[in-house]
Amino acid sequence: MKIADLMKPHILELEAYPPGKPVEELERELGISGSIKLASNESPLGPSRRALEAAVQATEGLNRYPDGSSYYLREALASQLGVAPEALIFGTGSSELLEILAKCVLGPGDEAVFPWPSFAMYPIVTRGMGAKPVEVALDSDFRFDVASVLSAVTDRTRVVFLANPNNPTGTSIGQAEFDVLVDGLPERVILVHDEAYLDYVRRDDFPDTLAAIRRRPTVLSLRTFSKVYGLAGLRVGYAIGDPELVGYLERARHPFNVNSMAQAAALGALRDADHLARVRELTHRGLEKLERAFDELGLAWARSDANYVLVEVGDDAAGLYQRLLRRGVITRALGAFGLSSHLRVTVGLPEENDRFIEALRAELGR
Ligand SMILES: Cc1ncc(COP(=O)(O)O)c(C=O)c1O
Repeated sequence: MKIADLMKPHILELEAYPPGKPVEELERELGISGSIKLASNESPLGPSRRALEAAVQATEGLNRYPDGSSYYLREALASQLGVAPEALIFGTGSSELLEILAKCVLGPGDEAVFPWPSFAMYPIVTRGMGAKPVEVALDSDFRFDVASVLSAVTDRTRVVFLANPNNPTGTSIGQAEFDVLVDGLPERVILVHDEAYLDYVRRDDFPDTLAAIRRRPTVLSLRTFSKVYGLAGLRVGYAIGDPELVGYLERARHPFNVNSMAQAAALGALRDADHLARVRELTHRGLEKLERAFDELGLAWARSDANYVLVEVGDDAAGLYQRLLRRGVITRALGAFGLSSHLRVTVGLPEENDRFIEALRAELGR
């Protein structure tokens, strides 16, 4: 017997998601200490105190199953966003919501269209359902080409995934291009507007997804507490959509998918607007610093609306990635995304950004 023969054929084609290297693993491998991780687009400031206190308080009730409807989080977020509570669904990170959506709408013979390179989960959830991923290349400035996305849509297309701002490039599209996409797609195609990095956006004309949802019930916004709220370790994200569409997704989810500490922490985080503003400010200053340093080093970079930046470092980006590792700086090499001359660097604390810039300068000999 071969275990592989027990698997569905499309599962054999899957490749596991490549995570950023954990600091502990690097230090064990190289026998070093004091390394920094600028690899996974996490918030360097951590969660708000209010989120932490709420999470700790929730530990008292860990003998109980979580609230299966995330009632208090749902009510608070609905009122903050000005949407009906039924327009929201929560997940174990927004990644789980991508999976739930794929489970609901994709199967063999179906296609999911998305720009590429983009978030690695899109091909994983698509292939996982036996559907076909259709990758549309970004343009030469690493931006979505809305016309190419539209022309990739066929009768078999069930969903378009659009990470805006895009990961790993940080590039984004504004309202006008978004409207062309929304209006150009057949209504039967679900448009997932993945706004994981929404709170970092610097451009003024970022699309209003809630208005698009009101206009077209097959637009779904995906958001997360993993990034600006600093709760990646607790796994909580949500989608906003038409209540009927969201209702079908609700049927397909695990009843206790969001744990009690995650619900409590997310609610605490929502109530701390000052912390959010601090993270945003720190990130923007950090981005500006990295951009200036890349300019000084003569490196090309992509204008980012997220908390990371894509920088072109030359043919041997994988080698440079390794050499930076030996200096205790973890970035992200992007060969698996077809970007073999680039690194993606997450904005860290000011001293971490400085340390990365120094290491880069030393390695490039400039
Ligand atoms: C574009 C994009 N969408 C979604 C996510 C998923 O975030 P989470 O599952 O932590 O909510 C990420 C995480 O890196 C991302 O980059």
